[in-house]
Amino acid sequence: MAKILDGKAVAARVRREIAADVEKLKAQGKNPCLAVVLVGENPASKVYVNNKKKGCAEVGIKSLEYLLPEETTEEELLSLVDKLNADDEVNGILVQLPLPKQISEQKVIERISPEKDVDCFHPYSAGKLFTGSPRFLPCTPAGIMELIRESGVEVAGKTCVVVGRSNIVGKPMAMLLMGANGTVTIAHSRTQDLKAVCKTADILVVAIGKAKFITADYVKEGAVVIDVGMDRDENGKLCGDVDFASVEPVCGAITPVPGGVGPMTITMLLKNTLRAVQD
Ligand code: GUN
Repeated sequence: MAKILDGKAVAARVRREIAADVEKLKAQGKNPCLAVVLVGENPASKVYVNNKKKGCAEVGIKSLEYLLPEETTEEELLSLVDKLNADDEVNGILVQLPLPKQISEQKVIERISPEKDVDCFHPYSAGKLFTGSPRFLPCTPAGIMELIRESGVEVAGKTCVVVGRSNIVGKPMAMLLMGANGTVTIAHSRTQDLKAVCKTADILVVAIGKAKFITADYVKEGAVVIDVGMDRDENGKLCGDVDFASVEPVCGAITPVPGGVGPMTITMLLKNTLRAVQD
């Protein structure tokens, strides 16, 4: 039987620690504050932004919400970012992605002050991570590192395979695993014999956005399997990139979907907001 890595439980524990730190900051007259910007009506984004607001409230972080219409221009969004950059009350800025077509995501990400880049998306933040001296940690990968710690498996010296090469998950995930002295491969849609590559992994992280793609024949016996997917199966039910029923009997530890990686991502955002105040 694989160990189930319960993201909800780990997130609750970390959030209690964050709440205690927020109390200490407040006693020193500091009031952590996160500005969350949502442009348009994307239903998934609305849910994410709502959960971020709730997470802030849970640990005592103040959140400011900016809901802008779908037809917002790039100029308008950039000038809001400028205003938030200059606002001393605001410690962290998060602009929810994706943005409507008329707005360049890259331009917006690059306009956010690296001092307030709690998503860790700015090229400066990515560069700091790459060179081994990050201030903020990328939220989803940092949450995954906590879950791997929970599995009891030491990363150092292990073979780690990350499937997916996005800027938000795959690439920064590889950096954190390498930082923890793992031997890391990034696999992707053009990888030859993906099955064989995945099967070498002691730690397998999957972020490809394909429902139940990874089955038992991709997984080494006893491996730690982390599922970043948020997909829908043939019946419209929420599921991950890993076929849980097939993989659970062969692996050593596995994250469920929902209730695995998801709750950890927001928790790490809260941690970054705290860090923005502390340093
Ligand atoms: N869209 C999907 N995930 C994220 C995230 O972690 N941060 C932001 N800003 N947008 C997202």
